[in-house]
Amino acid sequence: MIYLDNGATSFPKPPEVTEAIVTAVTDYCANPGRAGHAMAARTAEGVFRARDSIAELFSIEDPARIVFTKNCTESLNLALKGLLRPGDHVITTSMEHNSVIRPLHQLSCKGVSYTMVGCDMQGRLHVDEMKKAIRPETRMIVMTAASNVTGTKMPLEEAGRVALRHGLIFLVDGAQGAGHMEIDVKKQHIDVLAVPGHKGLLGPQGTGALYVRKGLKLRPLMEGGTGTRSREREQPMEFPEGYEAGTVNSPGIIALGEGARVVQRMGISAIEEYERHLTERLGKALAGVDGVSIYGPEDAGEKTAVVAINIDGMDCEEVADILDRRYGIAVRAGFHCSGCAHDTIGTGDIGCVRICPGIYTTENEIDAAVAAIKEISSQAMEQSRCQTGAPEDNVGS
Ligand SMILES: Cc1ncc(COP(=O)(O)O)c(C=O)c1O
Repeated sequence: MIYLDNGATSFPKPPEVTEAIVTAVTDYCANPGRAGHAMAARTAEGVFRARDSIAELFSIEDPARIVFTKNCTESLNLALKGLLRPGDHVITTSMEHNSVIRPLHQLSCKGVSYTMVGCDMQGRLHVDEMKKAIRPETRMIVMTAASNVTGTKMPLEEAGRVALRHGLIFLVDGAQGAGHMEIDVKKQHIDVLAVPGHKGLLGPQGTGALYVRKGLKLRPLMEGGTGTRSREREQPMEFPEGYEAGTVNSPGIIALGEGARVVQRMGISAIEEYERHLTERLGKALAGVDGVSIYGPEDAGEKTAVVAINIDGMDCEEVADILDRRYGIAVRAGFHCSGCAHDTIGTGDIGCVRICPGIYTTENEIDAAVAAIKEISSQAMEQSRCQTGAPEDNVGS
């Protein structure tokens, strides 16, 4: 199988990650933070190391300000619902995922308002438009690091400067950026960062994290056991345990720590360069193919490893289905939980096929995907010629 669905979750995982999960399940793994015995301490140490590794990747000074969650969606919900209050206004973009838009929509029933700043057809944000949307009651800017539909990278540093200048909380959805491009909370003035563990950080599914800078008051999403202040009925609002109610996913978190260390060892710029090379190879090979439309920036340097396409006359789901069943190539078709992003790039009615290489994708796999898409497209054109009865020479003239 050729796996080109790394935007949804990364595959394969590095051996270090697999080994960490197995060892945590078979050799040790007590409940961290619930007891003082040796096995609980060893588990807590693994979780602590994972926090440290995530902190290092994003230049976070205090690892204790990182809360582990089960995915980026939970991190975003915790941030939005835990920080915003009735009367607050939020600025976001038209390229966001439903994990930002739906919590905002839900909060709009509770007195929070939001403005969605439009992006261009390649998914690019013009920060001046964001500045124009600032009102006296604006409290937060929330935006994705990179689009999950087109891969378009967002101007984080510029937006972060705007947030800083206007005293706004800058929340970044790092789902498509973490492990793929530079995310530096200091340099980019990020106050709050939500990341999945299971995508670019190479950890297992069921893992994610949220960083909240010191000084911001966060309300928890859940109350329950924290292993501390057990006699108190109030949820302790201490980082990180106050926001990790209940037993944490220690095997997953420890393995995520390994994934983050693999990313750190490889180096973000080396990962970015390799993924750019693959994306360029794929984009250039498909650019000239009759019947294939490509969305998003042409320059692979402007985006993460995503190539979004459609084939004329074919439903995107059908293309993905043929790629899977006939060629053993895994991609994702449809609207990618981002209806507004599809409206922005002009595919709001049809969706598209999203092809996402990853760090373990090879050039041969890219070439095989190109050959398969060419074949599917030429068959679709042949079929449409047969149906319309047009002679081959006249097609396209
Ligand atoms: C931009 C973006 N934000 C948020 C999410 C949600 O991430 P998770 O699946 O970890 O909840 C995704 C998932 O694809 C995404 O692409």
